Order: sequence, then C-alpha cells, then structure tokens
Amino acid sequence: MAAWPWTDVAITGASSGLGRALAETCAAPGVTLHLSGRDAARLAAAADTCRARGATVRDAVLDVTDAAATEAWLRACGRLDLVIANAGISGGTGGVTEPAAQAQRIFATNVTGVLNTALPAIEAMAAQPAGADGVRGRVAVIASIAAFVAAPGAPAYCASKSAVQRWAEALDGAERLRGVRLHAVCPGYIRTPMTAKNDFPMPFLMDAEEAARRTLRGIARGRLRVAYPLPLYLAARLVGALPPGLRNALFSGVPAKRVAE
Ligand SMILES: NC(=O)c1ccc[n+]([C@@H]2O[C@H](COP(=O)([O-])OP(=O)(O)OC[C@H]3O[C@@H](n4cnc5c(N)ncnc54)[C@H](OP(=O)(O)O)[C@@H]3O)[C@@H](O)[C@H]2O)c1
Repeated sequence: MAAWPWTDVAITGASSGLGRALAETCAAPGVTLHLSGRDAARLAAAADTCRARGATVRDAVLDVTDAAATEAWLRACGRLDLVIANAGISGGTGGVTEPAAQAQRIFATNVTGVLNTALPAIEAMAAQPAGADGVRGRVAVIASIAAFVAAPGAPAYCASKSAVQRWAEALDGAERLRGVRLHAVCPGYIRTPMTAKNDFPMPFLMDAEEAARRTLRGIARGRLRVAYPLPLYLAARLVGALPPGLRNALFSGVPAKRVAE
C-alpha cells in the first residue's frame, strides 16, 4: 500500500542523494515511478531498490539542461500526480572568486533545468482531470535554505536556489486557480555526495531518508514552502534580514564551500 496520496511520480536527479531517497520513500505496490538522472549505473541501482519495494519503475538517462529531451521525457511519462524537480549541483568559491564556468553551470542546471522540468509538467497537469482533493497535479522544486542567505562563499548556488524558490511560490498564486499546485522545498544540510566534501560544520545535518520524508509530508499537507529543519530555517531568515554589508562582514570569518571539481 502506498504511504502517500500519489500513484504516478516523476523525479529528476533520482540517481543519488535526496532524489534517490525520495524515489525509495515513494516506492510501494501500485505506484509508478519515472526516475531520471545522468549516471546510468547509479540510476539503475536506485530503480532496482524501488522495484524491490513493489513499485513499477521506468528509468531514463536524462540531462535536465536539455530542454527538448526533458519535455519529451515528461510527455512519455503520461499522467503524473507529482513531479519533483530535484536535479541540482553545487559549488563554492573556495574563498576567492567563483569560476565563471561554475556559475554558468549552476544556473543552467539549478534554474534552467528546473524550468525545463516544471514548465512542461505544469502545462500537462493543467489539462488532466483533478483528483479527489481537487488538485490536477503537483510540481515540487527542490530549492534550499540557502535561498534565504546570500552567502559570499557560494554566490551562484544561493542565487539559483533563491530564484527557483521565489519562482515556485509566486507561480502557485495563479496555477492553483487552474488546479495545479507548486511547492518550494527548502531543506537544510543533508548527508549526500553533494555535502560529503564540505569541510565546515553543517548544523542539523540529516540523512537523505529523513529529508525525503519531511519533503513528502510537507507536499502531502499542501504546504507552499516546505522548509526544514526549523532552527536552521529561522537562523537563515534572521541572517538573511541583516543589512548586506554587515552580513558579508560576518561571513568573512566563515569557511567557503569548495569549488566544484
Ligand atoms: N545535500 C544538501 O545538503 C542539500 C540541501 C538543500 C538542497 N539540496 C538540493 O537537493 C538536490 C539534490 O542534491 P543532493 O544533495 O542529493 O546531491 P547529489 O547526491 O549530488 O545528487 C544530485 C542529483 O542531481 C543530478 N543531476 C545533476 N545535474 C544534472 C543534470 N544536468 N541533469 C540531470 N540530473 C542532474 C545528479 O545526477 P547524476 O549523479 O546521475 O549526474 C544526481 O542524481 C539538489 O537540487 C540540491 O541543490 C541539497
């Protein structure tokens, strides 16, 4: 029996970390999962775990920066109750200037890649019948608590997460009128390959399974913003509200995230 109120779910970046944990947490008999990622071997391993839990799984190698391929993948999925635009990359400055190519890559994946996923999903959902709760479909974008802090150690990452968090929350105002809901998911630190290389303290670091459960619970409750854990979210809101000059001065003593390899 499915623990969540969705039978047809598509997830990008399901080959690793949070995306894989979301897939495994949704996996149950009667559920069809459409999983995508770039690494075929890791994606197949995630798909096998979900099948072992009783789900029907269709996995597809996909780069979300390819708009046409992402739209074609979504169209081939058919009816979807929930789409999670999770694929993302990170990278910091290493304490100096963020490399231009890294900043471009982060925006291409975390912003354009999310739009490439969410926009066709929203259009398809708007044309499908509503479920028992009156909702035609849900699109969740995985932003971050980093959306609320312009951290000098990770400029492109913070900006990319802020962009998709604000975009999803603003768009929900109109889309809910035609029965489609958006959710901006803003997690704190999660133990995944993305954070494995961080050599600075990560307060309230949580397992990917815990983050997946909190994400899905928030979406199931209809929350527009799903931000957790609360203490880190409140701290980020507080720091984010400081005058920018003061905030940057405070951050000057904080180690920066490393440049992505
Ligand atoms: N870890 C954290 O503390 C944390 C906190 C807040 C938010 N988040 C967000 O959560 C999401 C998942 O991150 P994670 O921590 O699970 O990292 P991760 O383990 O590195 O996984 C990232 C996933 O995104 C996929 N991906 C990256 N670029 C892609 C592209 N161009 N096309 C398709 N798939 C692509 C990767 O696929 P391949 O490996 O197959 O290439 C992988 O499946 C990201 O959006 C991240 O920003 C993470």
